[in-house]
Amino acid sequence: MLKGLNLTVVVTGGIAAYKIPDFVRTLIKAGANVRVALTPSAKQFVTPYTFEVLTKYPPLVEGVHNPDTVAHIALADWTDYAIVMPATANTIGKFANGIADNEALSMMLALKSPLLFVPAMNEKMWTNQATQRNVSQLRLDGHIVVEPDTGFLAEGYEGKGRMPAPEAVFQALLVSIAIDKQGQTLDLTGHKLLVSAGGTTEKLDPVRFLTNRSSGKMGLAIANAAALAGGQVTLVRTDHAKNLPVLPGIEVVTVESAQELYDTMHKHVTDKDIVIMSAAVSDYRSAHPADQKMKKDQLSNQDGLTIQLAENPDILASLPKEGHYTVGFAAETQKVIEYGRNKLLKKGVDMIVANDVSDQTIGFNTDDNQVTLITKDSERPLERQSKIGVAVELLARIQDELK
Ligand code: CTP
Repeated sequence: MLKGLNLTVVVTGGIAAYKIPDFVRTLIKAGANVRVALTPSAKQFVTPYTFEVLTKYPPLVEGVHNPDTVAHIALADWTDYAIVMPATANTIGKFANGIADNEALSMMLALKSPLLFVPAMNEKMWTNQATQRNVSQLRLDGHIVVEPDTGFLAEGYEGKGRMPAPEAVFQALLVSIAIDKQGQTLDLTGHKLLVSAGGTTEKLDPVRFLTNRSSGKMGLAIANAAALAGGQVTLVRTDHAKNLPVLPGIEVVTVESAQELYDTMHKHVTDKDIVIMSAAVSDYRSAHPADQKMKKDQLSNQDGLTIQLAENPDILASLPKEGHYTVGFAAETQKVIEYGRNKLLKKGVDMIVANDVSDQTIGFNTDDNQVTLITKDSERPLERQSKIGVAVELLARIQDELK
């Protein structure tokens, strides 16, 4: 996933620093070449030697010099992308104001690429207006800042300020690299998005159900990318997608059946200006779901078992369109563009993301996707890439359309 990427992790002096060696291993396993820089106070929480052993390279710290190079510039030149994790209020404040009074900050000032900041601190420090002002400045300067999570803090009480789970930070990193690669600023500040994800489940009896192979990865990628780009996101996910990482700040509603998805989408659509329906909805449900487990000897005859199905409502077609930029998906096994265009008209949406699910290596339940974005007067095929890459390009296109 990160194959060949030169990634620098800047560790600053917060208690969450103890989690970073493990995260560095995750990055190495994902194929990245990783180097580390530590601020002086980070060394009180975790030792440079830990990172040296993991990365096979001495971290950038104060007082270790190689006469052949200027260490902080050499590391900045080597870096393709950098992540500051955990980012303390102190380092955020200094960097937002161009202060470079240690090796790590000096390296950060010399970077070509934007930085991903993962703040972690006590809630009172996070909500302080000076911290918030500095965070806004970082965003204005084109850096991406992950919102901290709410949960148990080192001080022994609940609050906002926790470093998000490593899986969520990993997703944020993939999104921010995809945004950087795509080359266009993605800023959804002020936009409210409603995104659905995953495959619905239709109950036949208490232990059996009808469903499909959708994993929810595409919808999660869209929700996470939109949140990281500053959008206010409500994610309606199905049980299928329950274990996929969600970034802090996203409102999450979990549903099971098409009817529940219908009700939830209609409940949340009103104040949203962007609606993206990526869930794979079961077109049919059992007309008579059983309250008790169905028994073979009572149901089947020599012709097998016949289950009567009732049609589910078409959620996307039923959603109000006025004042909402609405996007649907079209998973097809043939005539992808023609059928996609038909759905654009039939469902009254602004854009259809059409993909060919006859190719088992893309689409359903995979990490990659290859889609064509269809609007009333355009067709734009995107290159085959990760679902996160597709999500970022899709959102950039929506941003253009809304201008
Ligand atoms: N969709 C929906 N409600 C349904 C079925 C589909 O909202 N009952 C949405 C999907 O979320 C997707 C779009 O409609 O955004 C197209 O879904 P797809 O399954 O490709 O098409 P269908 O309308 O079900 O048509 P068909 O199965 O005949 O291709």
